[in-house]
Amino acid sequence: MYYFITKKVFFQLDPEYAHTLILQSMRCISNTPLSCLFRQSVPIKPIICMGLSFANPLGLAAGLDKNGECIDILGGMGFGHIEIGTVTPYSQTGNKKPRLFHVKEAEGLINRMGFNNYGVDKLVENVKKSKFNGIIGINIGKNKDTSIESSKEDYLICMEKVYPYAGYIVINISSPNTPNLRSLQYGESFDDLLVAIKNKQQQLHQSHNKYIPVAVKIDPDLSEGELIKIADSLVRHHIDGVIATNTTLDRKLIYGLSYCAQKGGLSGTPLQSRSNAVIQRLALELKGRLPIIGVGGINSLISAREKIASGATLIQIYTGFIFHGPRLIKDIVTHI
Ligand SMILES: Cc1cc2nc3c(=O)[nH]c(=O)nc-3n(C[C@H](O)[C@H](O)[C@H](O)COP(=O)(O)O)c2cc1C
Repeated sequence: MYYFITKKVFFQLDPEYAHTLILQSMRCISNTPLSCLFRQSVPIKPIICMGLSFANPLGLAAGLDKNGECIDILGGMGFGHIEIGTVTPYSQTGNKKPRLFHVKEAEGLINRMGFNNYGVDKLVENVKKSKFNGIIGINIGKNKDTSIESSKEDYLICMEKVYPYAGYIVINISSPNTPNLRSLQYGESFDDLLVAIKNKQQQLHQSHNKYIPVAVKIDPDLSEGELIKIADSLVRHHIDGVIATNTTLDRKLIYGLSYCAQKGGLSGTPLQSRSNAVIQRLALELKGRLPIIGVGGINSLISAREKIASGATLIQIYTGFIFHGPRLIKDIVTHI
């Protein structure tokens, strides 16, 4: 109810301004009696994934709470996990505005945010303050001005800093809005990165005496051959999970609709079947050797069930949450 009144107003505003306003309001009322306006109870649907116990299979996808400022209030809406980030070693402003567009007719979003965030130290401070008792995933990336050749260092810096506070860590190499980032998904660069990440995880496991799973997030525009190679590398390097998928660059999915020509990653309903196809192909290749976290276009209980039927163990939402609000969380978690 509150959401639908707010939605009517907020969808008239500039999309990024509306997003920022909502996040700021959440942050302000967090830890006040007003936070109950956002709270809803959902049944417990326990599930184990990557060796972790999740209260239910539904999580918030990365990118909405980039700095971990609203973990408690978002957690109170019923998510089993909240993925924060993408965070980079240093604060950066991201791409020039406007950089977020509503494709209303198709319940889609196009974004070219470019990892705008306050840097990993600020995110860690926020996580330390959080009281959320679900799982917090921390999604890490590289700064824009770090060359692709040196990007490994950025991931290792972030890993080291977030390790003690993360439920799981995500290596984001699939955002289309950081130049050449997606090239890290291919060939030797991919294997080199996975070796470095795995070594770091082993070292941090020993020094902190706890094992934090690491997942890799991939894009939906990979060819079948590329997907097969990625699956093989993930298994060979004992990566703990794979998140499929990030946003797509394919505009055929919204041909002729508003903002079709805007650069950036497309998310929401138009991405749904593409993401499902990637998950199905991955599942075929992985044969259960590592779990898939399915994301892309979930906008209803039916589409959530389709993600799981495609091979996902956990699922995440972002754009569907923007268009349908907290009610979508309750519907999915209650009936899944
Ligand atoms: C505005 C916006 C910002 C995003 N930022 C990130 C990000 O920083 N890191 C990331 O891994 N994914 C990011 N994503 C991708 C989402 O996490 C998700 O993978 C994608 O949107 C598909 O899910 P959806 O259709 O439910 O939105 C972003 C998506 C949107 C719409």
